Amino acid sequence: MMKDIARVLISEEELHRRIREMGRELAAEYEGKDPVFLGVLKGVVVFFSDMIRAVPIKSQIDLLAVSSYGAGTESSGTIVMKKDVSLNLEGRHVVILEDIIDTGLTLKFTVEHIRKMNPASLKVCTMLDKPARRVVEIEADYVGFTIPNEFVVGCGLDYNDYYRNLPFIGVLRPEVYEK
Ligand code: PRP
Repeated sequence: MMKDIARVLISEEELHRRIREMGRELAAEYEGKDPVFLGVLKGVVVFFSDMIRAVPIKSQIDLLAVSSYGAGTESSGTIVMKKDVSLNLEGRHVVILEDIIDTGLTLKFTVEHIRKMNPASLKVCTMLDKPARRVVEIEADYVGFTIPNEFVVGCGLDYNDYYRNLPFIGVLRPEVYEK
């Protein structure tokens, strides 16, 4: 697997340091508010499990699954809901957790979907932000790292569903997806 990685963009240590920082900020903002941390499957699984454990306050979790990418490196532009939330989010303080905001289409779809459930508040925390690729105007409230326009994998991010288990964020060698 490692031979397909051109270079490490963000190391495991850097990621964990930033997750601990964001965890402290989220804990300060949501202490006593009984928030719901809502993960967008399935790329978020690694960041989600690290992030929720970095916020030591009374809270609940939920997951929804949406997908935009086909089998390649480009978004198909069409968002498909594969699994909806299971908690009642009306009146709740909801924090959407995402692994990456790229075009912004997935997040826009997710935010609009959750807003219809009338949460008390809605914020977004993303591990990575790639603003160069944005096609809709949308921003996260908490951003782990802003990254350049390169195809990255690891920590939940995939190419053809592979590389999600890499413990760091790596740049995929173009030969891998240009084959
Ligand atoms: C990826 C990623 C984000 C989304 C970001 O998910 O996990 O949810 O794309 O891209 P966007 O800003 O261009 O919409 P993907 O649809 O590949 O599904 P996955 O999480 O199952 O890998």
